[in-house]
Amino acid sequence: MVTSAKQHTNEESYISWHQRSELDKLADLPRELDDELTRLDQDFWVSSQKLKDIVERFRGELDEGLSKDGQNIPMNVSWVPSLPTGREKGTILTLDLGGTNLRLCKVVLHGDEAHGEEKSTLDQEQYKLPEELKTGDAESLWAFIAEKVETFVKDKGLDKEYSTANPMPFGFTFSYPATQERVDHAVLQTWTKGFDIKGVEGQDVAKQLRDKIEEKSLPVELVCVINDTVGAMIASAYNDPKTVIGAIFGTGCNAAYMASLSDVTKLDPSDERIAAMQDTNTSTEHQKMAINCEYGAFDNSHRVLPRTKYDRQIDADSPRPGEQAFEKLSAGLYLGEIFRLILVDLADRGLVFKDQDTKNLHESYALDTGFLSQIEEDESPGFSQTRDLFHAKLGLQPMDVEIELSRRLAELIAVRGARLCACGPAAICTKEGITAGHVAADGSVANKHPKFKRRWTKALGEVLDWKKEWGEDGDGARGPIKITSAEDGSGVGCAIIAAMEIARRNKTRGRGQ
Ligand code: BGC
Repeated sequence: MVTSAKQHTNEESYISWHQRSELDKLADLPRELDDELTRLDQDFWVSSQKLKDIVERFRGELDEGLSKDGQNIPMNVSWVPSLPTGREKGTILTLDLGGTNLRLCKVVLHGDEAHGEEKSTLDQEQYKLPEELKTGDAESLWAFIAEKVETFVKDKGLDKEYSTANPMPFGFTFSYPATQERVDHAVLQTWTKGFDIKGVEGQDVAKQLRDKIEEKSLPVELVCVINDTVGAMIASAYNDPKTVIGAIFGTGCNAAYMASLSDVTKLDPSDERIAAMQDTNTSTEHQKMAINCEYGAFDNSHRVLPRTKYDRQIDADSPRPGEQAFEKLSAGLYLGEIFRLILVDLADRGLVFKDQDTKNLHESYALDTGFLSQIEEDESPGFSQTRDLFHAKLGLQPMDVEIELSRRLAELIAVRGARLCACGPAAICTKEGITAGHVAADGSVANKHPKFKRRWTKALGEVLDWKKEWGEDGDGARGPIKITSAEDGSGVGCAIIAAMEIARRNKTRGRGQ
């Protein structure tokens, strides 16, 4: 089967010969659907020139965030002053509150005692966050977390090793925008990723968690609160010195990098916190600071991003309309929803799923990014997997044309997402003069979508005017800036930051400060 519509994304389909031959067996798209696809292709395609314009504007917003508080991209100071040496050691309890799950880990860092073995050992448990908690109140959130910490501590026998007088160091990965006055303090700026828990915005989450820990007399001491992007960068740099950026392409979308302190002009160089965090061997001029960009908020004023009517609808129906404009076009939480909204639009106009019950299709967030990945990956004869998927998730029985249309839609949405996702790191690299290194990426889209890394690399190459073949290799192995799979940021990364902070405190005490 063929679609006559000119498809910009054809070049990035990366479909196999086998899939192509299965597609050829399907019926042709009727004229009206073909026209719809042409329209959608135009709406979703982001050209090379547009990518460059986006990156240019992105750079401007990153700079604004470094120079003043309260800017659209906040460029949050994390108080992590350096990359790890790789020698950090310790046993730390880490907690990760990311989006879907709560994860607790006992992390043992072996540092330079690893002797060729793994540099860290993990003992972990994961708990599903009850849906109602995401829109509940602060008390229920912290009570749930404290209860899980208590269970973990008991189950792993940590209560035998530690006490309130001799507590276990504890690190918290809190993957939401937060203002930090210190590494163990984090005032939530706004909830993202569909969370809407009352009584946390504008509050210090470290204090709220600490209060609960004290209430329950748990034998742990909160040492640091970090963002997942900072964790990904630090964990990856522990093993890979070429790491330049930590990025998350998952439910949300964001990155962190090491800025020169002198570029963070919103900080006063005489601020005593800077002196306290500074290594005696490092002059202020060379001092660095990990910045959690929080660039999911990029272009909230809608100056440059190409929004479709489906993107507008997602924004309007979200708990925080007007926020996270960039994230809503590119992150995993939204890709399945964009796909669903297009199908709903076409179904409501009688163009697809005629005479079928579309009740389940009309349910918000009924589909996730995994649905799109599976459609793109389907190599089964006659696309039986896609048919099963539609039936299992939506109770629908797609016809050939709906199979083809869905595959094309999944592609359009994922290609746009991947191309936009390249813009953040591209802006950081061009701004910082980074011409080579590793972008350590984590998140469900980066790790689970079969074609994300190739598309991301191709787009990065277009922005940076790479030789064409550099941007076209599978996982970008030939380009000088490569996307790599990040090490475990919220477990190992968080533990390393806690260990670095403990070492810094001990040193400061030693210096008598
Ligand atoms: C949050 C960031 C986080 C990103 C990836 C965004 O919604 O605001 O703090 O890094 O998601 O998890």
